[in-house]
Amino acid sequence: MARTVRVRSTTWLAEGVVQVEFRDPAGGELPRWEPGAHLSLRLGNGLVRQYSLCGDPAERDRWTVAVLREPNSRGGSAWVHERLTAGTLVEVEGPQNNFALEGAERHLLIAGGIGVTPLRAMAGQLDGDDADWRMVYCGRSRSGMAFVDELAELGGHRVRVHADDEHGGPPDLTGELAGLAPGTLVYCCGPEPLLNAVEAALPDSADLRVERFRAPERSAAAAPDADSFDVVCASSGVRVPVGADRSVLEVLDEAGVAVPSSCQEGICGTCETKVLSGSPDHRDFVLSPAEQESGNTMMICVSRCRSAELVLDL
Ligand code: FES
Repeated sequence: MARTVRVRSTTWLAEGVVQVEFRDPAGGELPRWEPGAHLSLRLGNGLVRQYSLCGDPAERDRWTVAVLREPNSRGGSAWVHERLTAGTLVEVEGPQNNFALEGAERHLLIAGGIGVTPLRAMAGQLDGDDADWRMVYCGRSRSGMAFVDELAELGGHRVRVHADDEHGGPPDLTGELAGLAPGTLVYCCGPEPLLNAVEAALPDSADLRVERFRAPERSAAAAPDADSFDVVCASSGVRVPVGADRSVLEVLDEAGVAVPSSCQEGICGTCETKVLSGSPDHRDFVLSPAEQESGNTMMICVSRCRSAELVLDL
């Protein structure tokens, strides 16, 4: 559900990283959220962008996000940095959580740069629960890494900060992950090279949960073939063909069936739609293998259908 919030303050956390604090304009409580959740901000330039909540879920009167100004910003982070000032009203959706903290014997949190934001909230919860957890926080240089002091204070020996410029290069993740204790659930959020390195170094037996900033590049050779199929909206009876080069989201939009969307890369979860029948061909990075197996919902911006007809709860 969309709501309007007011920017209460902005604070510089690190080089290029601004924290934005939102409050309810009428001073009321904001909806609850769990670590790993994000807000979708409707930016005034027509874009919608997701930012992880990084504060304390127990603070019901405020939400905070931290945003790195990307040098190659597609308009999201630059807008946040330039336009969000105290008093600005912003439309937001959420909180929504595709990266929820699950129970495990022990947790390892691996953060890369601004990927620390959801993990900072997780660290707070795990510490409050007296759980067995540790964190590896990587970045190019401490000057650009938000929450370093706060995390060190929170976790002490549990938090290892690795700044590349202090260690002569990136961390040895193979060594870090080689001796992983059984029952460890690993959470990783950061840039694609870090996620790839963690996926490559993780023992087969370990469980990993990741949150991506962008969909990974797929080479043409690795891209799965796309077939044509029909999509049917159960409520309205709208039926439209989905060509091999079109997305379900696109053809429905053209047919007048508007479904909220944001990333259009299968990473944010905004376009998740209930499936009534058909055989979804999941191509997103949000649903877990078990959720994909169940076939109950799909991300219609990227996912397709293996059967001739896909019936959606629209
Ligand atoms: S719009 Fe983000 S997953 Fe579809």
